[in-house]
Amino acid sequence: MPLSNADPKQRAWVEVFPKAIQANTRRIRNFISENCLLMAVVKADGYGHGSVTVAEAALAGGAENLGVATLQEALDLRKAGINCPILVLGNLFNSKDLKISLKKDLMITLSSSKEAFLCQKLAEVQNKFFDVHIKIDTGMTRLGCDPGLALKLVEVVDSLPNIRLKGIYSHLALADCENNIYAESVTSSQKEKFECLLSNLKSRKKPFCKHLANSAATLRHKDLHFDMVRVGLALYGYSPFLDFQNNFALEPALAVRARVTLVRDVPAGTGVSYGHTFTTNRPSRLAVVGIGYADGISRSLSGKISVLIDGNFYPQVGSITMDQLVIDLTEKPDVQVGSIVTLLGVDGYSVITPYQWSEITGSIPWEILCGFKYRLPRVVI
Ligand SMILES: Cc1ncc(COP(=O)(O)O)c(C=O)c1O
Repeated sequence: MPLSNADPKQRAWVEVFPKAIQANTRRIRNFISENCLLMAVVKADGYGHGSVTVAEAALAGGAENLGVATLQEALDLRKAGINCPILVLGNLFNSKDLKISLKKDLMITLSSSKEAFLCQKLAEVQNKFFDVHIKIDTGMTRLGCDPGLALKLVEVVDSLPNIRLKGIYSHLALADCENNIYAESVTSSQKEKFECLLSNLKSRKKPFCKHLANSAATLRHKDLHFDMVRVGLALYGYSPFLDFQNNFALEPALAVRARVTLVRDVPAGTGVSYGHTFTTNRPSRLAVVGIGYADGISRSLSGKISVLIDGNFYPQVGSITMDQLVIDLTEKPDVQVGSIVTLLGVDGYSVITPYQWSEITGSIPWEILCGFKYRLPRVVI
C-alpha cells in the first residue's frame, strides 16, 4: 500500500483506505448467502476510521444496512446524504431523541413495552410509522429484553398501529473466544434461546429480519447468520481470530503514521525519556517521533513495540510521552528528520497489527482501532 502524500508539515496522522473497506465488505458479502443482508457496523466513528468514509465504502462493497450506537452517529450519516436503513444499536430513552429518530427515518432498538408505548405516542402525533428492532438478551446481559418476556413484547408491538416490527435480534457475548469450551457452550445456549423465540413466532404473518452474528460469528458460524449479519471488525481488515486472517485476505483499512522530528547521537550510558526506563548500552543514534499517548499511543506500550520506516523495523525505547516518543536507529542509522514512521498498519511488505499492541496492553483490537484521538487528522487515501 503506498504511503500518502501527507502534508510535510504534518506531525502525525491516521490514513484510512476506503478501498480496503470496500474489498473487505465485498469478501464478506460473497461469503454469506445471497439472501442474507449485511449490516456494516460503523459506530464509534467507524471504529475510528471516519463513519461517513466507512459507510460509503461498505455500501459500495455490498452492505445494505448500517449500525450505529448513538443518535448523533446516525445523524452524521444522514447529514452526509446516506439514505440507507440505519439501526441505532444503543437504547434511545427520551422523547426528544426518539422524535428526531422518527423524523430522520432511523430504526431503533426496543427492549421493553414501556419504550414501545412511548414510540407509539410519538409516531401517532406525527401520523408516521416507527420502525423498530426488538432486542432479546440471550446471554450478553446488557441491552435487550428477557427471553421470557419477548413474546409478550412482540404482542405489544404488534398491537400498536404506528409501530412496525422490522427485526428481532440478539448479541453474542463470547463468539470471538477461541478454543474455549465455556465460550462454545454460551454461544450455543444463546443460539438456542434465540431460535426458541423465533419458532414461537412462526405463525406470525408479517416478516421480520432475524439477526445475531457479529464478525466472529459471521466468519466462523454460518448457522448463526439468519437473515442478516452485523459486521464491524472484519470490515476494518481484522478477523477476531488470528488464524482466519489469511483465509479471508482481509486488508487493514487504517495506518497510523508520524514524522521523525529530530535525530541525535548520544553516548553509551544515556538515560532516555521520563524515568530513564531505558539507558543506551552503546553509542546510539536516536530519533524523536512526533506522536504520543495524547494521540492514542498508549503509555503502557513503552519500550515494548517497534515502528516501521521504509519497511524496516526500529525499536521504540524509553517512556512514551504525551506528544513524542523515541526510537533507536543505531542498527540502521540512515534516517532523516521528516521521515515517515508507521506506528500501526502496512509499510512496504511489513505490517504492525492491533493484535500486537493489544497483547502487550491487555486490550483488544477493537479498542486499539477506536483509540486514536482527533488530534490526528484522518487522511483518506
Ligand atoms: C450489537 C452489535 N452488533 C454487532 C457488532 C459488531 O461487532 P464486531 O466488531 O465484532 O463485528 C457490535 C460491536 O460491538 C455490536 O455492539
